[in-house]
Amino acid sequence: MHSDWPVRGPRIPDQLCRFGRPNLGIILDAREGPVIQVREPTLLPDAAGVHPVHGTVTSLDDVTLTLTDAEREAAGEAFASSARALEGRPLDDEELLTEAELTGLRLPRRVLEALRRFRRHGNDAGAVLIRNMPTDAAAPATPADGFLPRWSDLPVATFGQLAVASTVGDVIAYADEKAGRIVQDVVPVEGAERRQENSGTVYLELHTEDGFHPHKPDFITLMCVRPDHGRRAHTVVGAAARALPLLSARSTAVLREPLFRLKVSSSFGDGSTGLCTDPLPVLSGTAAAPDLLADFHAMEPLREDAAAALEELKSAFLATLRGGVLEEGDLLVVDNRTAIHGRSEFAARFDGTDRWLRRCFAVTDIRRSRAVRPPGSRVCESLRTIGLFVPDASPAPTLRIEDPACTGS
Ligand SMILES: [Fe+2]
Repeated sequence: MHSDWPVRGPRIPDQLCRFGRPNLGIILDAREGPVIQVREPTLLPDAAGVHPVHGTVTSLDDVTLTLTDAEREAAGEAFASSARALEGRPLDDEELLTEAELTGLRLPRRVLEALRRFRRHGNDAGAVLIRNMPTDAAAPATPADGFLPRWSDLPVATFGQLAVASTVGDVIAYADEKAGRIVQDVVPVEGAERRQENSGTVYLELHTEDGFHPHKPDFITLMCVRPDHGRRAHTVVGAAARALPLLSARSTAVLREPLFRLKVSSSFGDGSTGLCTDPLPVLSGTAAAPDLLADFHAMEPLREDAAAALEELKSAFLATLRGGVLEEGDLLVVDNRTAIHGRSEFAARFDGTDRWLRRCFAVTDIRRSRAVRPPGSRVCESLRTIGLFVPDASPAPTLRIEDPACTGS
């Protein structure tokens, strides 16, 4: 049926679904592991046999706010002015972050209201998308090594993103990741294409961001500076509110038990490879509005029924994904407490024109992480410095996330 669609190996797609745009589709194969391939179909998605269990991948239109050009211009001028006044300062500077937060009040009232509502109550999509955010007229080349030399090379985008992140929480960063940068560059890095992290280009599995960390982000902001050439890099969000109702009662109960270990991401700096958390539950909190911690690449179930429940959860998310291609000026905010995210495979040229997102994290209460941050800094010290690694009977050391110094996030 889809012989004109490239499909890897022996896999047979069991779902072909819409992706917010009529000429794009995603093949989801829930039986043979993590595959999302975005291709331009020659058949309308509806013409294919849609798996009866799965729904469709839909756009984020109902949670999208688009600035008018006048609003964009006014906010852009304000961000540029603030950035100019503080050029030369590091981003990990309380005065600069406060300035960005207050300058953010120049964003349209409906955007600020939506972000504050999202912070407090979340939504069924687990995300808010702001479009037509102000950007910089002449963005530099996509940094080949994943590090923009100076934030002031993108002053407007930087301040706009800090403003939005500061509206949903307090900005936070991690010394282990991207050199502790407050705003990080997410770009394809040559040689790292196959990594399950921000520098890769292969399908990035659905995951909670830094779920292994005791002070993981509550919100992720992703600002698009430059989309990929083929518009194939689809950023997807899976929301607990949409996926969990599809689960069996048995699996839901198992997911609430501490039967899952999470490996520390390879992007998390030196020496963390092979480390994992103590057993954790995937679901916690109230039944009506649970918190979610999941990673279909780095999470290891400890029992057979836990593995089955995790598979069922993955299918539920694959059936309810939402998202699309991020264009220049798009800023996606994901609720990292109730939603997981991923990205489809895309091609990179490594010539300075590749896809470039900028990432900034926020937590609802920065004070909770005070024991692991130097005074006045938003950057959490490295996991090893925090002292969470302890010897364990298992081959890999264990990250003790229940350590009293680090609870509360
Ligand atoms: Fe991520």
